[in-house]
Amino acid sequence: MGDFRPIPSAAAQAIDNLLDGCAAVQRDQHVVILAAVDGLYGGVNVVDETAITWVQQGVQARGAHATVMWVDLPVRRTVIWPDIPTRETVWRIPAPVKSVMRGADLLISHVLDFSTEEELKEWPDLLAETKVHFVRNMATTAGLLSTAWARTPHEYVSELRLRTADLIHAGARWELTNPNGTHLEGTVGPATSNWGSYTAPRGRRGSFPEGIYPAINPVGMQGELVFDRMLPVWARDIGVPPSFDRPVTVTIRDNHIVKFEGGTEARTLEAFYVELAKVLGEDHGYEMRAPHGGIHPAARIRPVLCPDDEYREFLHSFHPSSIHLHLGNHRYNDDFPYCLHAAPELRGSTLKVDGKVLHDGDRLGVMDHPSVTAMAARYPDRPAGDAERWI
Ligand SMILES: [Fe+2]
Repeated sequence: MGDFRPIPSAAAQAIDNLLDGCAAVQRDQHVVILAAVDGLYGGVNVVDETAITWVQQGVQARGAHATVMWVDLPVRRTVIWPDIPTRETVWRIPAPVKSVMRGADLLISHVLDFSTEEELKEWPDLLAETKVHFVRNMATTAGLLSTAWARTPHEYVSELRLRTADLIHAGARWELTNPNGTHLEGTVGPATSNWGSYTAPRGRRGSFPEGIYPAINPVGMQGELVFDRMLPVWARDIGVPPSFDRPVTVTIRDNHIVKFEGGTEARTLEAFYVELAKVLGEDHGYEMRAPHGGIHPAARIRPVLCPDDEYREFLHSFHPSSIHLHLGNHRYNDDFPYCLHAAPELRGSTLKVDGKVLHDGDRLGVMDHPSVTAMAARYPDRPAGDAERWI
């Protein structure tokens, strides 16, 4: 292409971490690398050509075949309500994407809109149907590939996720508190995630970098949730800013939202949930799901390496200081086309299960677990046990 893009050592480490540690690219595989055009120009699917070129070259250097596809996604309203789309009226995954999924050994996607947790149900349905090995690379730009976040050994972050998930057992009591007045508690139900249990292997789906453990399935959640920020994807879909002018207080009884209190954002949420309940029913529209939180100790991105405020905010949700819940349950209405991830975000909370600490402020409870410290010792020259010193 006549376009030389020198790769700094930091990004080269991140590419190895992605392609060997996470995706396990093998010689002769057909690897499709997916990106969305809008992300080059301020759209939500943040990406740059340099990152895609480095991933492509890394795949080829391993003797695999790399096919890059730049997809142009349909233009649509940002706020999805009133008149919430149905499976018939919602935007669709472009047909050429479906074709390449069927022919690929591995799909490395850089498209935020192709998320198994936050956008169309069509996407996880397609992954299940095609059985393609899928890795979502969230380090989508040259700057993000140059971060300590992307260089932290993949297996180390996986170990943090597994040891944290080990602490979650069905039948245990959990408690979430925050200095902002949040106090929630309940019982742990069986895992509802795709992985079948809190610690089951992730199989054909990977996330790079890893960032979160399966959500606690709450039973009998009670208390008050106070929040002043929401993860950007559903904040956009609902029409509230990712950072609120006034905190919202949600009263929760028996796993359901009873009321919203606060300023403009509380009124917007209240009106959205009235509409949502018309589609999902009162029971599931107001149902509480999660909590879960971040496990990546280097998920703090300097603005110069990711100037997009909303994408950076999303990535910070993978730091141990961050915990979120899910408001509403999309799983029981097939006609509702979205994976509902309306996620109030808390920073600096304490989450305990059966008295054992999962998160305490900005620290993960398992940081001193013997298997975690043993794995960190294998990486003296990489962000691991002392990840915060590399940011
Ligand atoms: Fe979540």
